[in-house]
Amino acid sequence: MPTDFHAWPQLLQHYEAMRETPMREWFARDCASERVKQFSLEAAGLYLDFSKNRITPQTLTLLTHLAGEAEVRQRRDTMFAGTRINTTESRAVLHVALRAPRNASFSVDGEPVMAAIHDVLARMRVLADQVRNGEWTGATGKRITDVINIGIGGSDLGPRMVCRALAHLADGGPSMHFVSNVDGTELAEILAKLNPEQTLVIVCSKTFTTLETMTNACSARQWFLDKGIAQDQLTRHFVAVSTNLQAVRDFGIDSANMFEFWDWIGGRFSLWSSVGLSIALAVGFDTFAELLAGGRAMDEHFLSAPLDRNMPVVLGMLGIWYRNFFGVPSSCIAPYSTSLELFPAYLQQLEMESNGKGVRLDGHCVRTHTAPVVWGTAGTNGQHAYFQMIHQGSQIVPVDFVAPLKPPRGLPGHHAKLLANCFAQGEALMRGRGADELRAAGMTDEGLIAHMVFEGNRPSNTLLMDAVTPHTLGALIALYEHRTFVQGVVWNINSFDQWGVELGKALARPIEAELTGGACISHDASTEALIARARRTEHACF
Ligand code: F6P
Repeated sequence: MPTDFHAWPQLLQHYEAMRETPMREWFARDCASERVKQFSLEAAGLYLDFSKNRITPQTLTLLTHLAGEAEVRQRRDTMFAGTRINTTESRAVLHVALRAPRNASFSVDGEPVMAAIHDVLARMRVLADQVRNGEWTGATGKRITDVINIGIGGSDLGPRMVCRALAHLADGGPSMHFVSNVDGTELAEILAKLNPEQTLVIVCSKTFTTLETMTNACSARQWFLDKGIAQDQLTRHFVAVSTNLQAVRDFGIDSANMFEFWDWIGGRFSLWSSVGLSIALAVGFDTFAELLAGGRAMDEHFLSAPLDRNMPVVLGMLGIWYRNFFGVPSSCIAPYSTSLELFPAYLQQLEMESNGKGVRLDGHCVRTHTAPVVWGTAGTNGQHAYFQMIHQGSQIVPVDFVAPLKPPRGLPGHHAKLLANCFAQGEALMRGRGADELRAAGMTDEGLIAHMVFEGNRPSNTLLMDAVTPHTLGALIALYEHRTFVQGVVWNINSFDQWGVELGKALARPIEAELTGGACISHDASTEALIARARRTEHACF
C-alpha cells in the first residue's frame, strides 16, 4: 500500500507544515533564480520548469524517497525487460521496443522482438511511399488523395493527435480523416466529401472485434460497393492494422494488406506501432521515424537520469503530491499550440484508462485516490472559457502548460501574443493579486476588491520545446507515458489493463437487440423506460 512507505507519513507531516506557504514568498527571496535552476530540467529537446509548484527542496527529496521506496527504478527495468507486468491479461508491456533501433535487445519470453518490429516498419515505409508518390492507386488507377483511419480509443486518439500536430509537414501527402464514433453521422459526413476511387481505408483495431470500428468498417465497405467498386477490387482500398489475423481475413482483407502488431502493445501505447500507419501516410515514413527517435530519446533519459532529475519521475511524483496530499480531483493540460490541440484528448485515455483503478496489483483496495480527471484544451481558448475557475474557483487545479517557442506556421505578431499569454497565466496563478495591491493601484471600492482578489498559490508546470517537430512530439508523448507509469507504480496498480470498459459494452448488446425489435428483457425501471421511449420514436433509423 502506498501509505505504508516511510516517506508517506513524512510527506503528510511536511504537507501540514508548508501547505499555507505562498509560493510568491519563495520567489521573493534573493535565491529565486536558484529555485528555478533547481526546479527545472532539460531532456530530449524539452525544457520543464516546475518551480511554480507548492514544493520546497525537502518536498522533492521526500517525493524522491517515495519513488525509491515504491521501486520505480526496478519496476521500470522490469517493464523494459519484457516481463509480463500486465498481470491480469498476462502480457508484457513493450511499447518502448517499438522506438528502439533494430540492434536493440528487447525480447518477450526469451523471443527477440526487434526483427519483427522492423519488418513491419519496413512494410509501412513501402506503403507510405507508394501512396504518397502515386504508385499505389485505387482500383480504377487513380491516385489516392484521401485516407480514412477507422479506429477508436488507442487506435484513433494517438495517430489522430500526431497527424494534427504534424499537419504542417504533410508535404503533399493524402488528406487524413479519422472516424471513431459509432454515431453514423461521423462516417457519413466524411464519405459525402470523398471520391471512393481515390480513397484508402485503414481499419485499425488491435482486437478487430471492437463494435464501433467494425460497424464503421462494414459501412465503409458497403459505400465502396454501392459506388461501383467491385468486391475483388477492394484490396486497393482497404488495409488493416491489427493483432488478429483471422478476424482481418474474415472481414475480407488480404493478409498482404495487414500490418501486424502484438499483444504486448497496449492500445493507448500503440501509436509507435503499425497503428501509426496513418501518421506515416500523412507525413511520410522518415518523419514517423523521427517521432520514434524522439520517443526513444525520452526512454534513454527515463532509464538513465537519477530520480530527482528524471523528467517523467518528477512530473509523476508532482501529480502524486497534488492528488494524494492536496486532494486535488482534476488536472488541466493546456497546450499553447493549435497543432497540439488534440493532446488533451489523447492524454485523457492515457492517464484515465491506465490509472483510473481502485484495485492494487494484489487484488486489494488501493485506499488512496488514483488518477485525477484530466481535461484541457488549446490555449488561449481556455482562458476565455474555464480559466476563471482555475484562478478563482474553490478547488486547486494544477495546470501543465505546453508551448513551442516557434510556431509551425503562422502570421507575424501572433506567436509572441500566444507565448505571452501562456507565461502570464502561470505567473498569475502563482502570484495572484492581493487586496493591498489593488488598493495601492487606487481602488477604493472594497466590495469590488473582494471580487478582484486572486489568492494565487496555484501550481503549474511549463514545458517548452523549440518547435513542434516529430522529435519533440515523440519525446513529449513518451514523457507522459512514463509519467503515467510512474504514478501507477506508486499506487501499485496495473496501468495496462482496462476492465472498467467491459460492463457497459456487455450491457449494450441486449439493449441494441431490444431497440431493433428484439424481445425486452428485464432492466432497472429507468433503463426500461429509456428503451421504451426510443422504441416509440417514429422513423427511428435503427
Ligand atoms: O474499450 C477500450 C479499448 O479496449 C481501448 O483500450 C482500446 O484502445 C480501444 O478499446 C480500441 O480497441 P481496438 O484497437 O481493439 O479496437
